[in-house]
Amino acid sequence: MANVSELQIERRKFKPVLPDVLKNGSASIKLVKGKATQSVADQDEIKEIFKNIYGLPEVRFKKGTNAVAAKKAIKVAVVLSGGQAPGGHNVIAGLFDGLKEANSENTLIGYLGGPSGILENKYKEISKELLCEYRNTGGFDFIQSGRTKIETPEQFSLTKANLLTSKVDALVVVGGDDSNTNAAMIAEYLKKENLGKCVVGVPKTIDGDLKNKYIETSFGFDTATKIYSELVGNICRDVNSAQKYWHFVRLMGRSASHITLEVGFKTQPNIVLVGEEILSKNMKLAKVVENIVDVIIRRSQAGKNFGVVLVPEGLIEFIPEMKELISVLNDTLAENADAVAKLSSIRDKKEFVCGKLPKELSDLMKSLPADIASQLMLDRDPHGNVQVSLIETEKLLIEMVHKKLSELKKENKYKGKFSAITHFFGYEGRCGIPSNFDANYTYALGYNAAMLVINGLTGYLSSVRNLVKSPEQWECGGIPLTMMMNIERRHGKEKPVIQKALVDLDGKPFKEFVKNRDEWAVSESYIFPGPIQYFGPADVTDMMTRTLRYEQSEK
Ligand code: FBP
Repeated sequence: MANVSELQIERRKFKPVLPDVLKNGSASIKLVKGKATQSVADQDEIKEIFKNIYGLPEVRFKKGTNAVAAKKAIKVAVVLSGGQAPGGHNVIAGLFDGLKEANSENTLIGYLGGPSGILENKYKEISKELLCEYRNTGGFDFIQSGRTKIETPEQFSLTKANLLTSKVDALVVVGGDDSNTNAAMIAEYLKKENLGKCVVGVPKTIDGDLKNKYIETSFGFDTATKIYSELVGNICRDVNSAQKYWHFVRLMGRSASHITLEVGFKTQPNIVLVGEEILSKNMKLAKVVENIVDVIIRRSQAGKNFGVVLVPEGLIEFIPEMKELISVLNDTLAENADAVAKLSSIRDKKEFVCGKLPKELSDLMKSLPADIASQLMLDRDPHGNVQVSLIETEKLLIEMVHKKLSELKKENKYKGKFSAITHFFGYEGRCGIPSNFDANYTYALGYNAAMLVINGLTGYLSSVRNLVKSPEQWECGGIPLTMMMNIERRHGKEKPVIQKALVDLDGKPFKEFVKNRDEWAVSESYIFPGPIQYFGPADVTDMMTRTLRYEQSEK
């Protein structure tokens, strides 16, 4: 029996649609430079760190003639970095096809296992035959991924040495905010060394938090949210059928609540928590719980002891007292890394760290359910982020909701039943077969990245815009990586990083949600989106995210 599904066999035949501007080949794609740019914040610090790539102009591709393209054969390396996102293989496919179209002598290699592959010089040659199996598939398994951060002087010189040994002219980093920060650091280092090597990024992350005016969405968000929406929709239907459970569904997305909001639009559950709103209203944990309890009581009074709650995984970082605790914990863990590493049990580590915290934070830590307190202690990722995917916030909420309802029951203010079930959806959506949107978008991003390196550009992020239009009308170009950077505290130190785009509370998507949420709370306005459709009417196969549609309608 073959190792591929029937759908995968059919999907191999899908031909991504290239934007018109890229269709006629590199010699017919003219590069147009815009004005010099600035970083989003901390301009002086960012300029000082990125002396050689700061302030580059935005660039656009237009139809025209290009004498630079296709002159001499180049060797390009691609690396997939960070969490998986549907469409990564199509970025490689677009990159490969773009390079080959420009010059059949151009070659592409893929570093294995993420940025660590660069340091260990582990790679595979990418050929048409090998790639064939991976076109339009999900996952990053063609060359795998990893989260290694390249930051020490030794790592930079190793990167340089390996690129030189392998005669690589350009590196394409497919990643999220942290991985593209890595790309900017490498671009700066190689430029300073005057090696004539290019580094270009591609905006990837299911989280949807790598976006701005020029990057309308990161790839993978469309497919992942469609997968979670199918699951949440099914839960809504189950809830309404059995009418006896409350389901608390935590959704991936790291700090940003974009995924939760999008899934909320697609399924209309009873409660959708948005971390950014909780932060802006300075809502304490007790208040968040009170709001959930309020809906549970209102529904219960109508005889409905059931419902669905969506919880963004980053919620915990936005609750003011937890935010403070996490920030002090980050610094304390970083400052006492050696001492903490010597302690073997998580209990000893917790006790040690609590002894170093100010009293109110130590009290808060001790008041948390033991599992949650332990999860807060887990190692930060290589970029200094708390691993929110490992913190079971939904369980914390259920425990507190339970407590509150029991108190209210004793006071005769609540008569209902509360039986809760938890879910966490994250990994389920990261390697899904890319939707038509993501298959087209990633192919265009890869092809466009090929055009950027062919034109000798470094320190840029591949930018494909005008995404609410059909792919033929998409606009292509590049934006300087430094334009998106600011200074943030990581691992107890101030570091330059790409700023995360959180949910904008003044933006159209959030406002649309606010208009509807009271109705969703008390009714069963559930929507059941069903699985991603790859064949059939364009209304279902080419449907784009509500987030993108609302955001672009503002312009
Ligand atoms: P990226 O930012 O690298 O795209 O990763 C996103 C993500 O899927 C988050 O939503 C999640 O919190 C995290 O990765 C989980 O990381 P890991 O795969 O290391 O468990």
